[in-house]
This record gives sequence, structure tokens and C-alpha cells, in this order.
Amino acid sequence: MLLPTQAEVLEFHKLLATSLEANLSSGGSAGPSPDLLAAATKNPGLIYQANEIDGVTPLIVSAKDMEHSKWLLEEGAPWNAVDRAGKCAGNHSTDHNIQPLIDLHCTHATRSELILSQTLRNGFNILNVNEAKESTDIDYAPCTKKDYLQRDIKYSGTDQLLDSDNDAVMMEWERPLMSLHSEIICQPCTLPRVVLNVGFGMGIIDTFIQERLTDKDTHVIIEAHPGVYAKMKADGWCDKPNVIVKFGKWQDVMEEFGGAYFTGIFFDTYAESHLDMEDFHAELPRILKRGGIYSFFNGLCPDNIFFHGVACNCVKIQLESLEFEVEFEGCEIKVKEGDWEGTRRKYWHFDQYFLPVCRYLGEGGGKGGGGEEKEEKEEEEKNVPPSKKQKT
Ligand SMILES: C[S@@+](CC[C@H](N)C(=O)[O-])C[C@H]1O[C@@H](n2cnc3c(N)ncnc32)[C@H](O)[C@@H]1O
Repeated sequence: MLLPTQAEVLEFHKLLATSLEANLSSGGSAGPSPDLLAAATKNPGLIYQANEIDGVTPLIVSAKDMEHSKWLLEEGAPWNAVDRAGKCAGNHSTDHNIQPLIDLHCTHATRSELILSQTLRNGFNILNVNEAKESTDIDYAPCTKKDYLQRDIKYSGTDQLLDSDNDAVMMEWERPLMSLHSEIICQPCTLPRVVLNVGFGMGIIDTFIQERLTDKDTHVIIEAHPGVYAKMKADGWCDKPNVIVKFGKWQDVMEEFGGAYFTGIFFDTYAESHLDMEDFHAELPRILKRGGIYSFFNGLCPDNIFFHGVACNCVKIQLESLEFEVEFEGCEIKVKEGDWEGTRRKYWHFDQYFLPVCRYLGEGGGKGGGGEEKEEKEEEEKNVPPSKKQKT
């Protein structure tokens, strides 16, 4: 495909503006003009090319117009191209508050991302996920780090855990969120509860879990970083009577658990990709009781609210395919500018947090995680953690 020159791009944008105007005055019946269609047929690169002035693409220019947006998306315009202000067409449709267009972009983006994810899974690493090189612009440097577990971490005061690049692994401002997550995964239950947390970090959620569980319940923690594990040991986590600490990557430790074992699970690791998270999700039906609750730290695409929405949609669809019922509970969270002091960059940019509540409805697990059914004693015994007496 011939890459259009800037002059051609600007000419195309002019044709587009005229076509949009004509479509507007026809009440949406005109659609893309013959001149516009002819130009795009002659040089298909014009469909996705941004102008150099403000980085605006034809799809962004068309953010108020259904007929042009549909046509451009069908012709391959990328939904996620952003202008210099960091906004994609979906952000602009959201700003204009035009629901049918927001839905069009969201549906198209979700479908595209699910296909992309499957493509990557099939071995076509077209984006070099996990292999992205350090960018000179910190905002674009990858947050997935293959060697994170081999590098140093440091607890900075009581309110930050930093990696060796001073990227924040965990921060104190997340405390109220961790409290809400812990409440959801420690739901009341007729059985002794067995709750799993993957990723100890600053131990914030584990402290809340301890407060919510009784000595009849079991609390399992998986942690892979030697520095974090050393802190857990020093702070006495390995000696608590109802706590089982598994040191290792969840990828290596999970196979020890099975047979509808947990009543609640929380997942919050660091430096891993969305493909790792999908792999974790695939394990859930094997280890979560029917009616059990799964939740995760929802830091998906945290710097663009439209991308965030699309990512939440993708996870919801993937978890639904594993027989989960998925809801996102909105809650306010305000992070003060000063909280980021000492960290290399922010990893959260919104005032609202969408807390995932995922209830397992499938048959893969046993009954009773939700507390609505009384379990037979035999069943309970079957679910006693195999390694309860062998703490790591
Ligand atoms: C964001 S912190 C968790 C914070 C925790 N939710 C809290 O309340 O303090 C992520 C943790 O996951 C750990 N981690 C990263 N990759 C892991 C893996 N593959 N398996 C287990 N733990 C992992 C990190 O070492 C880190 O301690």
C-alpha cells in the first residue's frame, strides 16, 4: 500500500469534511460521498492516516457521524489511533455524548481486541508483547517486565513498594480499594472460607482478609518475589495459624490446588501482561467453588477511560465464557499528586474505579461457595487444603 503524503492526507480530510456536512444535512441518508469513496479506493492508506498538525485521523474527524464511522471501521481504520491529546475516536464520541456512536466504537474495539488476543495466543506476536524495548518516553515504557522477579525491590517508608526502576509496585492510596476487594472475596459463607490472594506486595489486602476471616477459615497467599517473601517472613506472615504462604510464581504453584477449593480469590500481580491474566482466569473453574467470588485489581489501561472500558468489556466476555457472572461496581478514588512523589510515573489516572465482582456459576467447582447451600461434612473434608500443614 502506498503511504499517502501529507498533502494527500489534508486533501482527503477536506473531502471528508465536505462529505460529513452533506451527510448531516441529508439527515444521515447520504453517507460517504462518491469523491471520498473514490479517493479511498485509489489510496486505502488514507483511511487511517493522521494529519501531522494535531494527529487527527479520519475516524476521529467522524466521531459524531454514524455512517462515516461505520464505513471507516469496515475499511480497517484502527479504533485505537489517538490524536495529540491522547484521545481516540471513542473518546471523542464520548465527549459528544452520542450513545449509538460510543456503542459502535466500543463493540468494534472489543471485537478487535479479542481477535488480537487470540492471534497473539496463536503465536503471532505481531506487537512484540513482553519484548517491548525501553522507550525513551517514560509514559510509553512498558509496564510488563520479564525480569522483575530477578531485580531488587524496595519498601519506601510505609506507603510505597518500588521496583528497581522506581516504578511503583504497590502504593498506600490503594488501601480503600483493597478493603472493598477483601470484603467481596471474604463473603459470608456456611462453610469455612478458603481465600486465595495472588501477590502480597505491601500486604494491604492480606491484612484486611485476616481481619475478616476467623480461625476456622484458611487464607492462602502466593508471592513470587524473594524480597517481598523475605518481608513476609520477617513480618510473621508465615507463622500465622490460618495462613498458608506459597513462595513461587502462581504459574508454578497453582497446580497444587484443585477440586473446587477456594471460596474467594483475588489477583493482583505486577509486571505481567494481560495474556498472563487470561491464563490465570483459565485456571479459575478448576480451583474456585461454585458460587465463589473472584476479583482482581482493575488497573487495565489506566490512562485512557475509553481503552479502560474496552479492556473491562474484553475481560467480562472472557470470564463469562468461563461461566462467571461479571459486574463492575463503580467507586470513587482520589489519588493526590503528592502520593506519586518518589515514583517514576503514575499507574492510575481516573477518579472512578470499577471494582470487578465475578461470581462463578459453573459446574467445574463444588457447591456452596456463596453460602447458600449447606455442604456435607464429607464434601468439606475433601476440600481441606492438601498442604495446610506444610507451610513454605
Ligand atoms: C501490586 S502488588 C500486590 C499488592 C497487594 N494487593 C497489596 O494489597 O499489598 C503485586 C505483587 O505480585 C507479586 N508477583 C508478581 N508476579 C507474580 C507471580 N507471577 N506470581 C506471584 N506473585 C507475583 C509481586 O512481587 C508483588 O508483590
